[in-house]
Amino acid sequence: MNPTPFRFTALAACLAIATTAGCARLPAAAATASDAGTPTPAAPVAADNDAGLARASAAAMAFSSQLRSELLAAMAAGGPVAAVDVCHTRAPRIAGMVMTEHGVQLGRVALPGRNRNPAQAADDWRLATLQVFQQAVDAGAPAAEQVSVVRDGLPDGVALRMMRGIATEPACLACHGSEVAGPVRAAIAKRYPGDQATGFAVGDLRGALWVEVPTPAAPGPAAP
Ligand code: HEC
Repeated sequence: MNPTPFRFTALAACLAIATTAGCARLPAAAATASDAGTPTPAAPVAADNDAGLARASAAAMAFSSQLRSELLAAMAAGGPVAAVDVCHTRAPRIAGMVMTEHGVQLGRVALPGRNRNPAQAADDWRLATLQVFQQAVDAGAPAAEQVSVVRDGLPDGVALRMMRGIATEPACLACHGSEVAGPVRAAIAKRYPGDQATGFAVGDLRGALWVEVPTPAAPGPAAP
């Protein structure tokens, strides 16, 4: 009769989302990414000198921390079903605000066929990177440790692309597992009739957070 255990689980899930998306891990992620993308091992100032990576990390952190605080507020006010609603309405808007503020493109994606929001099926470079992450996870690597930072060979106007794997944690199962509770399932189905983001197990790669940093605006020829 007491709804507390379920509420606690869903609250933990929302916290975990934010954490996984970068809130608590991105400072480490930035260091990892820097290490991964820089051949010189001892480069303590690499991240500081890499304005693009610093910007990508800052944007990802802003997204995560804001999502976290809004989810906390929603859980306190309305419980887990309300959290579905917040994920639906606020996650994309928070991403939009962070993109404007930090001057980057950013979002979360999942493999096609495993996504909830149809707009968040990974495509293009995000799909290619996510497939590499998936192969690594299938081979036993931890999902949350998958990081990709690319600076070379990018299209005109793109300075850096960063992507980080998002792991399925126990608390995610409330909305992404095999046995999602009725009211939560109904709330998800209402917003996402074609939902394909259930059936995940702990440790599975749930998706990824991606950031694309544009090259600094160059003074181009004036438009006629
Ligand atoms: C309260 C329900 C709920 C819980 C718990 C939950 N999610 Fe989600 N998740 C959603 C909803 C709703 C969306 C779609 C949001 C949108 O439209 O952007 C979503 C979308 C996502 C996406 C974007 C890709 C896609 O399929 O659209 C990722 C990645 C994700 N969740 C990861 C997680 C992880 C990791 C956890 C656990 C740490 C988690 N979620 C827990 C409801 C939940």
